[in-house]
Amino acid sequence: MTSVSPSLLSPDIPTHSQVSSKPLKLGIMASGSGSNFEAVAEAIQNGQLNAEIQVLIYNNPDAYAAVRADKWNIKAVLINHRDYKHREELDKQIVQTLHQHGVEWVIMAGWMRLVTQVLIDAFPQKIINIHPSLLPSFKGVGAIEQAIEAQVKITGCTVHLVSLEMDSGKILMQAAVPVLPDDTPETLHNRIQIQEHRILPAAIAIAVSNEQ
Ligand code: GAR
Repeated sequence: MTSVSPSLLSPDIPTHSQVSSKPLKLGIMASGSGSNFEAVAEAIQNGQLNAEIQVLIYNNPDAYAAVRADKWNIKAVLINHRDYKHREELDKQIVQTLHQHGVEWVIMAGWMRLVTQVLIDAFPQKIINIHPSLLPSFKGVGAIEQAIEAQVKITGCTVHLVSLEMDSGKILMQAAVPVLPDDTPETLHNRIQIQEHRILPAAIAIAVSNEQ
């Protein structure tokens, strides 16, 4: 079998920052480890992205993303979905927190909750999500397990604008990752994450410059 080099499957990432006089004010939402959140922070630090992270919102008290925020001196706010009866109430609290921090664009970096119209209306066409598959394939939870189960030879990751329908909305950037014969969900996820960390900051820059 011919193996495909991941670099051949990945898009070229623009090295320029988006054209913007003022740094973009980002709010990041994360549920878990926060490696994508940190990739955005690193892209800002190395000048790839002209932005500032105003706040990290996380919904699981033990999310490692909060530890990373501390390391980067970024304010982290816990909004625990378990404290809210309805998803709309949770999103109202999220919107209030994002507004309080002057956020312009919202980045869902491993946010594992469905969003409602409340959040979408507050930031129309300004919410970005990253998903570990080549959408529209393998939406929802367990995208990596779904890809292995389907025995596809190539999967990857997608950065897209968020719409009400789960894992839909305009695709901004994708990177392909080969599925190797002995892949486990963990080994495949590790290789997908390498690509996620490249395309998420680049896609944010592209989305913003498209809008300007
Ligand atoms: C990422 O792989 C992201 O694509 C996925 O969660 C992971 C978060 O990793 N998101 C989804 O599955 C959303 N449907 P991280 O916490 O290390 O950034």
